[in-house]
Order: sequence, then structure tokens, then C-alpha cells
Amino acid sequence: MKHLSSTETDSLFERYVIANYKRYPVNLVRGEGSLVWDSDGREYLDLFPGWGCNLLGHCPPRIVQAVQDQVAQLIHVPNTWQTDLQGLWAKMLVDRSFDAQAFFCNSGAEANEAAIKLARLHQGPEKYKVITFQGGFHGRTYGALAATAQPKYHEGLGPMLAGFTYVPHGNLNIVESRIDSSTAAILIEPIQGEGGVRIASQEFLAGLRKLCDDNGLLLIFDEVQTGCGRTGHWFGYQYFDVQPDIITLAKSLCGGIAGGAMLANRQIAGSLRPGMHACTFGGNPISAAAGIAMIETIEQDDLLAQADTKIERFAQHLSELQQACSHITEIRQAGFMIGVELSVEGAPIVAKCLEQGVLINCTQGNVLRLLPAMNITLDQIDQSMTIFSDAVCEVTGQTVAAEASSN
Ligand SMILES: Cc1ncc(COP(=O)(O)O)c(C=O)c1O
Repeated sequence: MKHLSSTETDSLFERYVIANYKRYPVNLVRGEGSLVWDSDGREYLDLFPGWGCNLLGHCPPRIVQAVQDQVAQLIHVPNTWQTDLQGLWAKMLVDRSFDAQAFFCNSGAEANEAAIKLARLHQGPEKYKVITFQGGFHGRTYGALAATAQPKYHEGLGPMLAGFTYVPHGNLNIVESRIDSSTAAILIEPIQGEGGVRIASQEFLAGLRKLCDDNGLLLIFDEVQTGCGRTGHWFGYQYFDVQPDIITLAKSLCGGIAGGAMLANRQIAGSLRPGMHACTFGGNPISAAAGIAMIETIEQDDLLAQADTKIERFAQHLSELQQACSHITEIRQAGFMIGVELSVEGAPIVAKCLEQGVLINCTQGNVLRLLPAMNITLDQIDQSMTIFSDAVCEVTGQTVAAEASSN
């Protein structure tokens, strides 16, 4: 296809596409690994590929191949039929997690809807409340939105679904004090992503596990961002060594193809009985083929084993940056999930990076967020982090960061 220029694309959006996103007027047309190009031929190093969905970068070859093969064989069949692909995909996820069964859907919000429903169904009509955490983010559908304890996302949209109890992040005593006889579950992102890459302590998560055990509650980890290798482990709960009853997955689950899943402990999964929940496209052959190829790529390319070196390389650059820039209040990193908190607004730094050919994100106004691909090369880390560090220093008026580490 001959693409339109970024300017021509911008005028199409201006006239025909609802402006519910703040979009950059850049028409991205092609990607390969951590590189992406716009229709004007400009190359970018992408430290935020696919908003966290492209954990293997753009167009990972095995996923491209698997989808191309699958699309020519069988595109879609409803869940009234079985496909070996969906069964094998579920097995592969379970083999790498815990004694669970899978429900498939299309997105993170849908995975969380399934988890909320399962918790209520399993616990019975008297136990329906779900405790969630301030600063958390669980999606935009009404159940997931009600679970999201950030007032800005509820503005103008009320009334919310009832039955959620919001508590501050990190305080076990307060969580305990809010549990009552109608509480069914605790839902938490082990690392708050949109909330600013806030990493729960191991003690806090272990404490939640104990509270759940003591009070007959289900512990649900929203692993939409932390799942599938993002932390350098298959799943975020393994990073913390705390076992939840349910995990929800999406984003990188299918390496950039839309797909979501809920994995629920086998003891409780049966409470989601036929007719109680469904998803037309859930676990479709294309997403299943991509999901399988995602797991195979991580294993065949040994990406979890190589993760430490890359994670450490990011950490080195970040530590040098922190020394150079007094406007950085905190750096938080868990594997390939990085938040750089500033005492100033982050948007001008995102714009500066874009101008210099590096794509990043800013969340909560002052947290620069990087969700790089786990197959980014060391050279690409050095190149992009040098540009990133320079942009942070330049925009905040500090001296340029110390020379980036060499090989
Ligand atoms: C932790 C978490 N949960 C749920 C969601 C919602 O996922 P989706 O946009 O696929 O519905 C997101 C999206 O950013 C997320 O970060």
C-alpha cells in the first residue's frame, strides 16, 4: 500500500476519527524489532512499543509467520467448537504458571471482567465486594473501570458498578480493616503500570496472600502489564514469589495481536459455569497461534535467560541519569518495566525524545515510562538511553548525562 504522509493522515483523523486519544500526528507504517518508521521515512527507536503489547518488538518473525499460516487455514470459529490451538495455548500458559485453567478474551479489561465475575460466582451472593488499590488501573469497561480507584477515570461516567472498596496502596492494616463478611476478593496489579510503575513490596503482596487465606478471599493479580516475560519472569507473581488464585493477562500475551486471558486456580475455575460468561472472539485461532508463537519465541531465543544483562544495562543508564539530573525524584525498575519520576512535567521530555527519534511515554503527568521490548539489542539500549538521558537533562536544564556505558 502506498501510504499517506503524516500530514495527510492527520487531516483524516481531524475529520473522521473521534478524538478520545491524544495522538501524535505521526503516521507509523512499518516496524521491525525496536525500530519503527513513519510514512515520511523517519526511523524511531521505540522504548514503548505497542503500549506494552509488543514485548518482542514490532513484527516478530515467528508471530508473523504463525499468523500468516493460520489466517490461510482457519480465521475464526466460535467457542461452541474446540480447537487444538486454544487447548495447546492454555496448556502452555498453565505449564509456565500454576495449576490453573484458562478463559480467553480479547483485552485486559475483558480479562478483569471475567475475574470479577468468577470471584462473585465462586464466593456466592453474600460475598461480592472486591478490594482494589488507589492508583491502580484495570481497564475501561464498567466493571474494570469501577475496580480502577482513580477518580479522574470515573468523571462524568457514574454511577459506577457497586461493590468495590478502594484502599491506599501498601498499607496492610488498612486493607485488613476494610475486609468484612461481604468481601470476595482482593484485586491488585503487582506493579502499578499506568499508576506510575509503582512496585509493591514482596512483604505487602505476601501479606495480602495471608489476609486472603485467613478470610477466605481470592487474590487476583492483574498481570496485564506484568505478564508474559515483562519482569524477566514468565509472570509478575513469580518475580515476587507470591501465589495468587487468579491472574489476568493481555497486552503482550499474543506479541502484539489482540488477545486476553484469565488463568484461574483449578479449584475455583469451575465456578464459571456454561452460560455465565463468554467472549465471541476469545481464544480465536489467530490469537491462539500468535500466543503460542510468543511463548515459543521467548523460549527458543532464550530471552528470559538473556533478560538480566539487558535489564542491568538499562539500570546502568538510569543510575547515571539519576546522578546527572536533580529533577529525578525516583527511578523504579522491575525488569523491562521502567518509571522515571520527575519533579517536573514529563510531556516536554516525551516531545523532545520524539524529535530526537526515540519513543517513550509519560504517565501520571510526571512519570516517564519505558516498556521496552525484551529482545532489544544492547546497542539499541545504549543508543536510545543516551538520547533519552540527554533529553531529560536538556529539558530540565541540567548538564548532559555522563557518557553512556560502553560495551
Ligand atoms: C494493568 C492493566 N490492566 C488492564 C488494562 C486494560 O487493558 P485493555 O486496554 O487491553 O482493556 C491495562 C491497560 O493499560 C492495564 O495496564
